[in-house]
Amino acid sequence: MKHNAPDNSDRLQPVFDYHQATKHRFDAYAPGPGFLDWESQPNPFRRYTGARLIPLDIVPPTDEPRYDAIFTPGRTPSCAPLTARSISQLFYDSLALSAWKSTGDSRWALRVNASSGNLHPTEGYLICGPVEGLCERPMVCHYAPEVHALEVLAEFDAALWDALRGGYPRHTVFIGLTSIHWREAWKYGRRAYRYCMHDAGHAIGAISLAAAGLGWHTRLLDELGAEDLALLMGTFRPHDAEREEADVLMACAPMDQVLPATGPPGAPVASFTALAWQGSPNHLSPSHVEWGIGELAECVRKPRAAVRYEPLQSPPTAWPREPRPLSLRRIIRQRRSAVAMDGQTRLSRDTFYRMLHRTLAVAGAVPFNTLPWKSRIHLAIFVHRVDDLPTGLYLLVRDAAQTGTLQEALTQADPWRRPPACPPQLPLYCLIEADARGAARQISCHQAIAGDGCFSLAMLAEFTAPLKRYGPWFYPRLYWEAGLIGQVLYLEAEAAGLRATGIGCYFDDPLHEVLGLADTAFQDLYHFTVGGPLDDERLTTLPAYADR
Ligand SMILES: Cc1cc2nc3c(=O)[nH]c(=O)nc-3n(C[C@H](O)[C@H](O)[C@H](O)COP(=O)(O)O)c2cc1C
Repeated sequence: MKHNAPDNSDRLQPVFDYHQATKHRFDAYAPGPGFLDWESQPNPFRRYTGARLIPLDIVPPTDEPRYDAIFTPGRTPSCAPLTARSISQLFYDSLALSAWKSTGDSRWALRVNASSGNLHPTEGYLICGPVEGLCERPMVCHYAPEVHALEVLAEFDAALWDALRGGYPRHTVFIGLTSIHWREAWKYGRRAYRYCMHDAGHAIGAISLAAAGLGWHTRLLDELGAEDLALLMGTFRPHDAEREEADVLMACAPMDQVLPATGPPGAPVASFTALAWQGSPNHLSPSHVEWGIGELAECVRKPRAAVRYEPLQSPPTAWPREPRPLSLRRIIRQRRSAVAMDGQTRLSRDTFYRMLHRTLAVAGAVPFNTLPWKSRIHLAIFVHRVDDLPTGLYLLVRDAAQTGTLQEALTQADPWRRPPACPPQLPLYCLIEADARGAARQISCHQAIAGDGCFSLAMLAEFTAPLKRYGPWFYPRLYWEAGLIGQVLYLEAEAAGLRATGIGCYFDDPLHEVLGLADTAFQDLYHFTVGGPLDDERLTTLPAYADR
């Protein structure tokens, strides 16, 4: 697949090659192990031996804040003060364990953030100044979900913290995320990098939504380079345990304080090499297979540089609705993936429209206000069981400026029609009326959940244009946006009394063919299904942190 890019093309070729080589096809899945080597199954918990541990509080969910409130600018919860308790709550509602599952002798933990195959490649870090009840000195910590505690990796002085914080408000904290690619590659082989980046997106979404519950807002600091992030989190240190790739740094601050448009100055970042770092990362597996992911990760590492992102020309507008009496924090912590759908449950049209509207980047609305780039992902939706809506293929255009381009690109569509009673705030179109259950199932690697829900969808990303515009480092960002949409859909499903499941296993090009996409201007990056779940009665559920 050679692209005639005017610029960035040489640097982009490894990305295009990786993307092409990791497509699942009807006649062959992307290269992977083909079996599970249980001997080398990675430990899901990274721990830093020798690091001081700060236990965080368990903060049980409360009725307030209400779920719908956080999505409505102007109705958001009042700002919580920065204390040990609010930091505890932030992690408890984003990256913590949510339950344990068991059957026979097997026992495994579930988490608030979703992860492909429950393998959890994403690790979280906190970089903060003094926090009441937590620390008197600024510090860098690793978050250990297994015990809901912070592992202190380094402490530093107030002058360095002030220099790092730059123009950010006094009560800002920074949250960093890394990926341990091996955790996913162990099971999924070469395609695993994609799943790691979906998971990073789910984690960014989870943090942004949890922060909103505290009346805080978040912003991705995209001026820094991947090397800067590794310095700040301490993952630059040489060791022979599994490598962590630094992905993201987010600023998190009370909503009544303005987040500046640019990130912290780069200069003090270099000082982090000289800190007295503590703790050694544990080994997760006795043996590894590379799958060429390290090479790709290197190619998509972002260099340090300010980025001039284009704004949405016509941002989607709010659709004011009556808030429901739902607890945000209960919805967040009860989120689970459905392992099977019942093939019967129906969804009201109004709730369907409401769910889809939540996936739009309305100005100032969580979690999309965390991302500095304009929406690049559109939703191709297979409607199966929505009351008063014909079954078939629909399209949600998340950036209205792309409507014409999409109309030209989707050559298999009938003339686009607005669905019945669709609010003007929702740019949804019916493309084909048909029973789409079989096609949805077949394209999602023959998984019944894609046809047995109320609807399933494919996330169609503008692909070649943003990659050419920004370069290889934008590739993971497309998945992050997809993961954010996924995390919202998971919560929306729970709020509607349903359940969702992310679907990373799908046949890429067959989906493109269904839509009539002839080139790589748009690529399918992630699937999702929402419906009435069937529970697996063989599994026992146990609470997280029962010993505390
Ligand atoms: C990126 C991603 C891809 C996934 N792909 C699939 C899939 O193809 N099929 C499936 O049944 N579940 C899939 N899942 C669901 C995960 O298996 C599920 O999130 C994981 O087991 C953790 O369970 P939980 O979501 O209940 O916490 C996916 C989840 C994510 C985040």
